[in-house]
Amino acid sequence: MNQKHLRIVLAICLFLSLLNCNGPKKETEISTEKITLKKAYKEDFLIGTALNSAQINGNISEKESALIKNQFNSITAENIMKSMHIQPTRDQFTFDMADKFVKLGVDNNMFILAHNLIWHSQLPSWVNNIKDSNELNQFLQNHIAQLAGRYKGKIGGWDVVNEALNDDGTLRKSIFYNLLGEQYLVDAFKLAEKADPNAELYYNDYSMCVPAKRDGAIKLVKMLQENGAKVDGIGMQGHWGLTRPTLKEIERSILEFSSLGVKVMITELDITVLPSPWENAGADVNKSAENSDRMNPYPDGLPEEIQIQLAQRYKDIFKLFLKHKDKLSRVTFWGVNDAQSWKNNWPVEGRSDYTLLFDRNNNPKKAYHEVMSLKSK
Ligand code: XIL
Repeated sequence: MNQKHLRIVLAICLFLSLLNCNGPKKETEISTEKITLKKAYKEDFLIGTALNSAQINGNISEKESALIKNQFNSITAENIMKSMHIQPTRDQFTFDMADKFVKLGVDNNMFILAHNLIWHSQLPSWVNNIKDSNELNQFLQNHIAQLAGRYKGKIGGWDVVNEALNDDGTLRKSIFYNLLGEQYLVDAFKLAEKADPNAELYYNDYSMCVPAKRDGAIKLVKMLQENGAKVDGIGMQGHWGLTRPTLKEIERSILEFSSLGVKVMITELDITVLPSPWENAGADVNKSAENSDRMNPYPDGLPEEIQIQLAQRYKDIFKLFLKHKDKLSRVTFWGVNDAQSWKNNWPVEGRSDYTLLFDRNNNPKKAYHEVMSLKSK
């Protein structure tokens, strides 16, 4: 290449680099921009996400990893802290993944939400097979002491008991209730407080805007309080749809839970755009239904009109959250992007759902921009 050619090539490079600096920013670059979800909502409430194993191990693209760190200031383990993963065999704890998860949160100065201590689902089979109350009580004591004790001082809050209620507000006849009675609820909170005295302790459940279940949760938390258990907050999971629950019911739950003197948080937010096989989908992970074309209407992408509806729904609920920011301490999404969302496989396996603020390529969706727009006025 002679001097003249070299000058032309350099000029083209300079021109292209200037274009890159001054040209309009593409939407894909938003995750590295200064204003992100956690910054926009800094004065209002924490913005969290649930992480799967690949995300905890760092087996993800740089873009996804940057997005997690830039957009969120709280993390929940989507699965790896559940008892079937942590104590698959009696007294044999597998803490490797949980150690990595907690380290990720500590290193990035995030509020770490530990999910969960006592839940009837995703139990190891050896616990499911217990028939004797002393043996189950032994599990309760040991599991909480070992798990909550290991991360003492590092965890922001524990989901101490998950999903102890039926949708009609009565106590679920789980293995814990059947063998230990309602005392297991009080014991779980007291044991958690003993193991990690400074962590916040929560009761967490789905369908918390259904009036009967809301009343049941209030009764449950009052019972815990009357029995001297420390309850710092109530988690409303928030596996919601485009129209249900109504804003009015969501607001009512926030107000009524808050009047118990506890923090309220949205702990597993996602909004499905897909039809439900049942009247009231809830989030019972043990239920499932058959796939079909009717049940999976958007396998190749979300039509623009539904994208707009989803964005409006997110905007409406965040507007409500902002109205009650004095009562809400955290809003956690159940996943980082649409590819990760458990709703692709529940309640029907193998569908394409579009539940979150970031799409399958980790690009912000219309819903993201609507949620951000509430803070730019
Ligand atoms: C879900 C996970 O997202 C899935 O990956 C797993 O297969 C089943 O559990 N309520 C809860 C969460 O409290 O732990 C559940 O998470 C969703 C419903």
